[in-house]
Amino acid sequence: MTTSPSARIAVYPGTFDPLTNGHVDIIQRGAALFDRIVVAILVNPAKAPLFTVEERVEMTRAAFKSQPDVEVDTFDGLLVEYARQRQATVIVRGLRAISDFENEMQMALMNRHLSSTIETVLMMPAEAYTYLSSRLVKEVFALGGSVRGLVPELVEARLREKTGVGSGLRV
Ligand code: PNS
Repeated sequence: MTTSPSARIAVYPGTFDPLTNGHVDIIQRGAALFDRIVVAILVNPAKAPLFTVEERVEMTRAAFKSQPDVEVDTFDGLLVEYARQRQATVIVRGLRAISDFENEMQMALMNRHLSSTIETVLMMPAEAYTYLSSRLVKEVFALGGSVRGLVPELVEARLREKTGVGSGLRV
């Protein structure tokens, strides 16, 4: 997709291991506010992710295949440097609960210290996703619990393939 020079581009960075419906919700809200939202997956082998970065890119692209205003990319190094390269003026992050606030505030202020021209926008997901995290999804799934409705169906299928666990128990 070509973007005009005056387009408002936002970067939505994260680990996305895996993409959850909370992430999807934030991406949709971001896409409604900005001309283009770039989902930027951090390449960080130190985190020992369940899914490779290629798998995470592929799943996220598949989830947004009908939305040309949502782009999926990877980055390493400083986020503000990546945002500058992508001509993004906004960093989008999701804020679920007050427990997220301190970390997000710290990152936003550090990023502002590094680049005063890039603004962080914190967005609240739908209430149903305020308790949701990729870490909990992996834990619940690995222990046989159901994650239906919490992740896109294609992610649930990939979790099944990856872990060998069934579709999940709901008691
Ligand atoms: O999904 P996550 O793990 O909460 O995402 C964290 C992420 C990728 C946004 C953060 O670790 C990050 O921005 N890393 C890039 C390195 C960087 O720029 N650090 C300094 C600014 S905080």
